[in-house]
Amino acid sequence: MSNRKRVYLHPLPVRVWHWVNAICFLFLMLSGLQMRYGDVFEIIPFKSALRLHNIFGFTLIANFLLWAIYYHATGKVFSLYIPAKPGEIGKFLKDLVRQSLYYGYGLLIGEKNPHEPKPESKFNPLQKISYHFVMVFMPIQIMTGLMLWNPAYFSRWINLLGGILAVDTIHVFLTIFYLAFIVIHLYFATLGPTFFSHIKAMFLTGYEEEH
Ligand code: HEM
Repeated sequence: MSNRKRVYLHPLPVRVWHWVNAICFLFLMLSGLQMRYGDVFEIIPFKSALRLHNIFGFTLIANFLLWAIYYHATGKVFSLYIPAKPGEIGKFLKDLVRQSLYYGYGLLIGEKNPHEPKPESKFNPLQKISYHFVMVFMPIQIMTGLMLWNPAYFSRWINLLGGILAVDTIHVFLTIFYLAFIVIHLYFATLGPTFFSHIKAMFLTGYEEEH
């Protein structure tokens, strides 16, 4: 048993949201790839991939609404997910540089993480920026997904955005953003005091250890 200080950062609703979201993303990406590259490889038929994409798409929407309701009800959405208020941008940028230097160099020579997570400020500046965009882009990804799901019903919206090709392009570009995010996110998820400690905290306990 380690003697490190522990802090409760991930309440159960956030943990449930996170893992349902991660499973949805996995299946949405795999089924999306199958639909797009059906001429290159066919693990399941196009129709089954489409059905899977719709099931996990609607699950993701319901889960996103739960996230939005929970974070608005607890009043934490602005304090955690908005990188900096107008008067705090200077300090935020300084902290951002410090945090980047830590990941680029300090971590390798055993320095202490400059960010001390607390429930009301649990994200470091890099997490704040990336999680901000991950969640701000989510409604855009959902809306473009809905337009592709039922183009006739959403035809006015589609025309407003410049046609179905434009909508599809936004959907695919955001997918590429999410793919890049997930690769980087997985790497950072292993940078806790031990390889699995962040993942264990997010999955099982909710408690992060200081490091
Ligand atoms: C198997 C895949 C994944 C693993 C292992 C993983 C791991 C983690 C861990 C350990 C944390 C808490 C510590 C930290 O912030 O670094 C976290 C938080 C978070 N992850 Fe993931 N993640 C995965 C997939 C995803 C996906 C697909 C998304 C969104 C597209 C995502 C978005 C987030 C967000 C927004 C948070 C902050 C949640 C909060 O505390 O409000 N993660 N993840």
